[in-house]
Amino acid sequence: MRKGVLFLLMSFAFVNLSKAEEITYRKHIKPVMDSKCISCHGPDSPEYDGFKEEKSKWLSKGKGPRMDTYSHLIFYVGWRDTGAIMRRLDDGKNTPDGKPGNMYKYLGDTEEERQRNLELFKKWVGNWTLKRWKEITKEELEAIKVKY
Ligand code: HEC
Repeated sequence: MRKGVLFLLMSFAFVNLSKAEEITYRKHIKPVMDSKCISCHGPDSPEYDGFKEEKSKWLSKGKGPRMDTYSHLIFYVGWRDTGAIMRRLDDGKNTPDGKPGNMYKYLGDTEEERQRNLELFKKWVGNWTLKRWKEITKEELEAIKVKY
């Protein structure tokens, strides 16, 4: 009987822990974006198509496309720039050439910090696929979480 109660309490604790670990944009991702990415992807950066239209102008200012809101950011996860966040942030474990994506280095000042922040992004995305719009299946798209 005692053991049963203990087990019950432990399973409640476990459920609470996994709930608390749910990764959301507001709680976990925005702070990383704000401290690591926004200097080049902030409100004075262009929309994706504007960036593509005048790429050399924006590159000369050191700016990439705008990603400073939830709506802007998920464009680079789901649609239209499917998998861009995953391709750019991957540490090389999933890339065809084994090299990290070119934004991975911005995830932190140390390898430990980069790995920690990559883990947050992976959990947030839910389905870490590097596929583009033309390659991704509906099931793979559905498995993307990106919770607000
Ligand atoms: C020092 C400036 C700088 C920082 C900091 C930076 N980026 Fe970038 N980023 C750029 C530039 C410039 C480009 C466009 C050139 C390119 O495609 O590499 C870009 C491109 C991207 C793209 C691809 C967009 C597309 O056109 O498909 C993604 C995704 C991205 N960055 C994510 C991030 C994330 C997430 C962070 C923070 C961890 C970050 N970047 C930090 C400058 C930066």
